[in-house]
Amino acid sequence: MAQTTSPTPTPAPKLALPHPVNDRKVAIIGCGFVGSATGFALMQSGLFSEIVLIDVDHERAEGEALDISHGTAFASPCEIYAGTYDDIADAAIIIITAGANQKPGETRIDLVNKNVQIFKGILSEIRSRSCAGVLLVVANPVDILTHVCVELSGLPEHRVIGSGTVLDTGRLKHIIGERLDVDPRNVHARILGEHGDSELIAWSSAHVAGIPLEDFYNMRANGSYEEFRKEISDIVRNAAYEIIRKKHATYYGIAMAVTRICGAIVRDEKSVLSISNTMHGEYGIKDVALSTPCIVGKSGIEVRMPPSLNYREQCELKESARALQEVIASLDLSIE
Ligand SMILES: NC(=O)c1ccc[n+]([C@@H]2O[C@H](COP(=O)([O-])OP(=O)(O)OC[C@H]3O[C@@H](n4cnc5c(N)ncnc54)[C@H](O)[C@@H]3O)[C@@H](O)[C@H]2O)c1
Repeated sequence: MAQTTSPTPTPAPKLALPHPVNDRKVAIIGCGFVGSATGFALMQSGLFSEIVLIDVDHERAEGEALDISHGTAFASPCEIYAGTYDDIADAAIIIITAGANQKPGETRIDLVNKNVQIFKGILSEIRSRSCAGVLLVVANPVDILTHVCVELSGLPEHRVIGSGTVLDTGRLKHIIGERLDVDPRNVHARILGEHGDSELIAWSSAHVAGIPLEDFYNMRANGSYEEFRKEISDIVRNAAYEIIRKKHATYYGIAMAVTRICGAIVRDEKSVLSISNTMHGEYGIKDVALSTPCIVGKSGIEVRMPPSLNYREQCELKESARALQEVIASLDLSIE
């Protein structure tokens, strides 16, 4: 195996929270496919006792709140309602799923101009309320919008998280588990970089219960490991395109990924998740948000854990960062 190198983990500064946080409250801004599926998954998770839904289409938020709240009789008590920005200040987590989604054939980056404009409006509401919780960005392009939130939300950087490649990593574990006939929870493999076309799989550190993935592959399958890797990379990278072509939107997988991140935050789990976070010179990359593993807990990003990568993976990560930086350079982040 090629030699790998790992930058030193960077602890995030510990900053005081501005208000008491209501650990049992979450706000979801944007109640389309992703926002409503997320509300539904969070209701079932039992993590929260108050879920606030906000949308420019207030009636839509009301309808989703009613529909989801009718499920609580079969889950656990939870107040679910359509609210306003005045309801978000004490929420433990504010999830932003508002924005245009991909149409068949569109990339996530194609959404950037529309969604940056939408985010500017939402962030001016957030800025004016000195919110206490963690901001969780889900709308696409998620890495660019995470960068926009770090710049414009007024929140400390460790309280701004992008869902990043948590979903892609889940897809990767699922497909490897399916192909090699093993529980995906025992597959330890990660997707890094952009949540999008330039993402990469950290193959050099992938393993199944401590057995390097290549060795496990040779135990469980026949054929070329290189071809297996290429096939898996293509499937994972194109998963969203395939779903959008077939059913116009993706929402169940991301709803579960968001629920996983929310659990790590409100239960202070210190879980290592591949979330979108701002780089500070790791691998020579800075001033851009992309996914690398971080310890996630109550205050958001607690420690960045840049993993060991071989030379090829480092080059791919830098290339992913370069692609995102090019988009960032074209943005107008001035506030009206
Ligand atoms: N990060 C991920 O892994 C992931 C996965 C799937 C989808 N997404 C992204 O999530 C976003 C939402 O996707 P969707 O399928 O739910 O789209 P959708 O069109 O169904 O829903 C978007 C919702 O946002 C609302 N909205 C628009 N502007 C708003 C504003 N200023 N304030 C409040 N609400 C506003 C709309 O009224 C609508 O209800 C898209 O950007 C999509 O690409 C991300």
